[in-house]
Amino acid sequence: MNDMRLMERSAMTNDVKISASQVQVFYGESHAIKDVNVDILDKTVTAFIGPSGCGKSTFLRCLNRMNDTIDICRVEGRITLDGEDIYDREVDPVQLRARVGMVFQKPNPFPKSIYDNVAYGPKIHGQVRSRDELDEVVEKSLRRAALWDEVKDRLSAPGTGLSGGQQQRLCIARAVATSPEVLLMDEPCSALDPIATAQVEELIDELREQFSVVIVTHSMQQAARVSQRTAFFHLGNLVEYGETGQIFTNPGDPRTESYITGRIG
Ligand SMILES: Nc1ncnc2c1ncn2[C@@H]1O[C@H](COP(=O)(O)OP(=O)(O)O)[C@@H](O)[C@H]1O
Ligand SMILES: [Mg+2]
Repeated sequence: MNDMRLMERSAMTNDVKISASQVQVFYGESHAIKDVNVDILDKTVTAFIGPSGCGKSTFLRCLNRMNDTIDICRVEGRITLDGEDIYDREVDPVQLRARVGMVFQKPNPFPKSIYDNVAYGPKIHGQVRSRDELDEVVEKSLRRAALWDEVKDRLSAPGTGLSGGQQQRLCIARAVATSPEVLLMDEPCSALDPIATAQVEELIDELREQFSVVIVTHSMQQAARVSQRTAFFHLGNLVEYGETGQIFTNPGDPRTESYITGRIG
């Protein structure tokens, strides 16, 4: 392949960031995720869609080992981050979660100041050496989350005193503060009004320049707006995965078509 072709290829295809193969998840006897195989790309927003209870959150939580915190939950198969098995004994899940950050459905700032919410991760992971450096990380993270201008004069005020949309952007700032490589978002806009939702969606599009973003959403409009790749789950199966435009205009599986046209879900 000549140089030109190589350049074109690298401009068009993003590297695989997370690769999951033959993933099964059980809650006790109940089989929640059935043999899922998927490659999540870097610098790309991937949407997980599907009817309630189909396993979107369960599978998302596999990607940073959040299911480890659920006693009855068992995960099988192999999931790699940059080719390394994240379920390897050597991997510390707390360190892993600094690389694969998470934003939840309900904004959940710590009962601490705005500053301390963002400073928490870099501090516990020993990523900063001085107060100046920490100040810089806090400012940079709040800017990335498009929140800096609104809070710069009240960094010592409690994070819980912000509006819902601001709290969610604070949680995003907290997640990006540890410089993660992947950001997992589980229905991050479902508690937000339309204006705050639009702000968070715009932010997701900017975050894609630096991170691999995986977003669970029950809104197909949102998936179509923010993602480049879409995975459709149904009853614990990954039914279809591909380019968002293709999934929404020309799905390959009748179950996907039924869902996006509103016949199931
Ligand atoms: N902590 C849990 N304990 C037991 N079962 C669970 C738990 N979380 C989810 N499940 C079950 O796993 C299945 C998938 O749930 P979930 O991943 O939350 O779906 P979704 O996010 O697509 O709505 C459902 O049947 C749900 O009841
Ligand atoms: Mg869910």
